[in-house]
Amino acid sequence: MIAVKNIRHLVEPEDFSIEEIEQLVSQALDIEQHMEKYQTACQGKIMASLFFEPSTRTKFSFDTAMLRLGGKLLGFSDPDTSSAKKGESLVDTIRVMSSYVDIIVMRHPKEGAPKLASEHSGVPIINAGDGGHMHPTQTLTDLVTIKKYFGSISGHSVGFFGDLKYGRTVHSLIRTLVRFGSKEFFLVSPEELKLPEFLKQQLLAQGCVLHETTDMEDVLSKVDIAYMTRVQKERFFNEADYLRLKDSFILRASKLANAKENMIVMHPLPRVNEIARDVDSTKHAVYFKQAEMGVYIRMALIMKLLGITVE
Ligand code: NCD
Repeated sequence: MIAVKNIRHLVEPEDFSIEEIEQLVSQALDIEQHMEKYQTACQGKIMASLFFEPSTRTKFSFDTAMLRLGGKLLGFSDPDTSSAKKGESLVDTIRVMSSYVDIIVMRHPKEGAPKLASEHSGVPIINAGDGGHMHPTQTLTDLVTIKKYFGSISGHSVGFFGDLKYGRTVHSLIRTLVRFGSKEFFLVSPEELKLPEFLKQQLLAQGCVLHETTDMEDVLSKVDIAYMTRVQKERFFNEADYLRLKDSFILRASKLANAKENMIVMHPLPRVNEIARDVDSTKHAVYFKQAEMGVYIRMALIMKLLGITVE
């Protein structure tokens, strides 16, 4: 049975309550098991994916999600093929697109662009990543992965590795884990790529304990979740700094020798070379499964924002 309710947006993870996130996660796990139940849920609906920045997983997992729900798609993955190239403002693009489609997924290099879009859209806007700021749907993907492997979202020790300064997936996830009750985090990054000060202050004010270190192996032996990230080349102002920092922390299978039995290695992907290929065949590597989970949670999200429920 299919029913329709009101409009919502997902710009920041905080746009959903903890209970709503838990419902999405449970539904995603149900979708993983019973995909067939959902195949006509979005029949007659159109999703636009407007990607002003490159993407593989986020764009195609959203597209797959909508197609698996029986909906239709349009959009661009290269803004040079849209009127943005002619100088059209984002607000105008959104006003027009929201009169064409039922839901819009957008990625943009400018922090705050999806927020602005949501203020001018008559249909739900989903932030698929805004600059170095937030990536709420990757956070949902991460949470459903954690739930799948541990049976619960909270109560696990987490280490973040790599580019904690520009990595929007880290910013979104850490803020959300705190809402779920996590308080202690291990932060492993080069000095120049530490978690931004404003975010650190927010976390400290909420009573978090942050262990900033460069001792990768020590952290790998302590945590339940090792969340690896790529050094975000596109956010650097100069190539020399990127080249100097890009290989700061490389995870190899040999470094997992003292890891806990059930420890999982996550990565939003794409990886460049921060995870060596020999990690892929260890029991700890879950990043490809994590990317798959992204489809199920995005199916749950699209239905939620369109006010569609499947019994
Ligand atoms: C991430 C992103 O775009 O922020 N990728 C993704 O959406 N899965 C991480 C990254 O690009 O490094």
